[in-house]
Amino acid sequence: MTNQLIDHNLEALLTDSRKYTHENVQNILTMNTAQSLYETIRLRDHFTASHSLKVAVYSYLLAVKLDPDLAFEYFIGGLIHDVGKISFPDYILKGTSKFGNEERENIQKHVIDSITILSKLNMPPKVIRIARFHHERFNGSGYLEELSGYHIPIEGRITSIADIYSAITDEGRAYQTIQTHEQAILILENECSQFDPDILNTFLHIVEVIPDRYINTIESNIFNELQNNIQHLEFNTI
Ligand SMILES: [Fe+2]
Ligand SMILES: [Fe+2]
Repeated sequence: MTNQLIDHNLEALLTDSRKYTHENVQNILTMNTAQSLYETIRLRDHFTASHSLKVAVYSYLLAVKLDPDLAFEYFIGGLIHDVGKISFPDYILKGTSKFGNEERENIQKHVIDSITILSKLNMPPKVIRIARFHHERFNGSGYLEELSGYHIPIEGRITSIADIYSAITDEGRAYQTIQTHEQAILILENECSQFDPDILNTFLHIVEVIPDRYINTIESNIFNELQNNIQHLEFNTI
């Protein structure tokens, strides 16, 4: 992706965030809650927060092409799709030591915990579906419900690709070597039976490395937009 294209995509994301919360109290509440949860994740482990932000950006880019009506909710869902991980002990969350099968079962539980937290907070159905289905795999090898093919809702088919790409290229996971963008693409192609072929194809066409400085700009701009819209709403209701 050229810098110009990245600027264009990120500008579109910012515009969508502005529209989403403009004079809409329910959406402002949703964004405020998402920001609080995201900040909580960051306080617990900032690598999990940067993973979540990457998932948010890449899921949004895919959704613009494939499920455009509420594309911005993919950004919100990405930010908090792993919120249930805050209960992990450090050695799992921060990957400071190896773990076995028993821990693997506990890891899967983060999906249930995320659904519970997001449902109690009345987050939008799309956001909850992102948390619920992001570990399902097209060939049926995922969890929790072991769905396959088009039985997996589109939210799961989109975010599973963004999630895996981000996990492969994430920094700060002691148990894995960071892979480059090219290596990550090769892994996705080799493991293609796990993913919806059309969505994977779209991903391979639209995704290039988005430098961290862009990702960090998005975060501050979007949360500033939220504050502006809150102030605008307060001003208009005085
Ligand atoms: Fe997850
Ligand atoms: Fe994740």
